Amino acid sequence: MTASTITRHAPEAADSRIVAWVDSIAELTQPDNIVWCDGSAEEKQRMLDESVEAGTLIKLNPEKRPNSYLARSHPSDVARVEARTFICSENEDDAGPTNNWAPPAEMRETLDGLFEGAMRGRTMYVVPFSMGPVGSPLARLGVQVTDSQYVVLNMGIMTRMGAAALAQIGPDTEWVPAVHSVGAPLQPGEEDVAWPCNDTKYIVHYPESRQIWSYGSAYGGNAILAKKAFALRIASKIGEDEGWLAAHMLLLKATNPAGRAFHVAAAFPSACGKTNFAMLRPTIPGWKVETIGDDIAWLAPGPDGRLRAINPEAGFFGVAPGTGYSTNPTAIEMCEQDTIFTNVALTDDGDVWWEGLTDEAPAHLTDWLGRDWTPDSEDPAAHPNSRFTVAAASCDTIADSWDDPAGVPIDAIMFGGRRATNVPLVAQARNWEHGIYMGATLASERTAAAEGTLGELRRDPFAMLPFSGTHMADHWQHWLNVGEKLQQSGVAPEIFTVNWFRRGDDGRFMWPGFTENARVLKWITERVEGRTDAVESPFGLVPVEGAIDYAEAGVSPEDWEALFEIDADALSAEADDADVFFARMGPKVPEAVLAQHEKFRSRL
Ligand code: OXD
Ligand code: MN
Repeated sequence: MTASTITRHAPEAADSRIVAWVDSIAELTQPDNIVWCDGSAEEKQRMLDESVEAGTLIKLNPEKRPNSYLARSHPSDVARVEARTFICSENEDDAGPTNNWAPPAEMRETLDGLFEGAMRGRTMYVVPFSMGPVGSPLARLGVQVTDSQYVVLNMGIMTRMGAAALAQIGPDTEWVPAVHSVGAPLQPGEEDVAWPCNDTKYIVHYPESRQIWSYGSAYGGNAILAKKAFALRIASKIGEDEGWLAAHMLLLKATNPAGRAFHVAAAFPSACGKTNFAMLRPTIPGWKVETIGDDIAWLAPGPDGRLRAINPEAGFFGVAPGTGYSTNPTAIEMCEQDTIFTNVALTDDGDVWWEGLTDEAPAHLTDWLGRDWTPDSEDPAAHPNSRFTVAAASCDTIADSWDDPAGVPIDAIMFGGRRATNVPLVAQARNWEHGIYMGATLASERTAAAEGTLGELRRDPFAMLPFSGTHMADHWQHWLNVGEKLQQSGVAPEIFTVNWFRRGDDGRFMWPGFTENARVLKWITERVEGRTDAVESPFGLVPVEGAIDYAEAGVSPEDWEALFEIDADALSAEADDADVFFARMGPKVPEAVLAQHEKFRSRL
């Protein structure tokens, strides 16, 4: 395909830099055809129909699940591949010890080799998108090229995709170029497969030049490059350069019975229930929780001196298993139509099912691999990382302000891991530095659940371990710097640590979680308002007796006490573990974080 053909296909509104870039990628990857996506409903329907025709999507029974589709991936392409994810900063030290690094020049050579002719026999789609409301000062723009229609369809749900985004990019606009190929060129006459991909996979980020290259996978964060690759890895670097924060955080709005609204950003490692918490239906009379985002937040000091946040995404790419009527009815309802499911099971009447959707499994299913499945089958019917992709607007609890271009003002920030031991249900940081220490030492535990013993800790600072595009310790310093700016204007959010997952000696969860987490959220807002007292603990400020109505949550006084118990020996061992972690992070660990660590030890 020659450059002149490509230019002819480009919409008039396309900035010449984009056209030239698309031209150069086409020259390298040699697609048969180029389609510029406009984001229209007709375009979407055409791609859905074509994907059904190609066997990539199965149309679900429209009476059960209108406008919804099931994709089954290749069994080897089912999750993000952290071992194949690279941060190719100019200097290795800017990627830090928690990221894979390779010299950018060497990586470019490798990728040039892989991408050469990679799209032969396929169509290259050009997908312009806005992360954040189109035109918002907090939004950022990108263009992804991809040879996967499945990826285009997902990008269309997860971002503001198409002509409106393209029109935002003028000669002086910064935009992030993202190149994606499944790495499965077709020879003339060769028949395609339902889920083309390649055993060789690379998810590569060049933070300084803001570029993303992804090869070999069509699954989730590997391929929907607006999400983890742009909105977290590249954005964490842009944020560092520009004075704002890219965070692996959900966003919610909580309104108390007096009508006062609070906005909360919360970081939890993957698979700790972020989507459930973002869609919480509180049990406490008079309280309302609304959803703004379930995965990513961009936070920036606003003109009023407050920290303001947007959800840069436009949809949810949620884990299906474990999402059910009892755990997250809002998510179940939002997936009743207009949803793309990936790797869940198919029912005999053309609907979907996954473990945890209902208490009882159907008598017969087709599993995610297309095999017959019954409740006696050994393997789960849905892949544990099977997903639903659905528009944010489909969510019943979405807040009116979720797409406010000015963002929402943040009152509180939460950090939470999955901890069987040691970490209390909730504690408030004494100040910003202490809160950053909470974020820096965030960890989840692989527990020997039955014994309730201290399992191996996986440190996941700021829940950003696989998502930081910079040195992790630089990320902490950047949070300290932004906090300093907020403190100067006098309105920094309060910071809290939470743990829904503490277990008793018998291995039982002592806190019921889910809707009852609203009681902790209520306390957090009351602390923000200064309406309730707190007492000192080594972790920070914890509720005074009576401040949280735990009996209403079905928790005994003994368990309540145990939820805040301090085991000095275990905590001292944990502090030693943090020392090892800080040593691994090297000399960039901020003084303020180390000082907080010393204070923690001395409080024990
Ligand atoms: C996700 C993740 O998919 O954090 O959101 O892994
Ligand atoms: Mn996530």
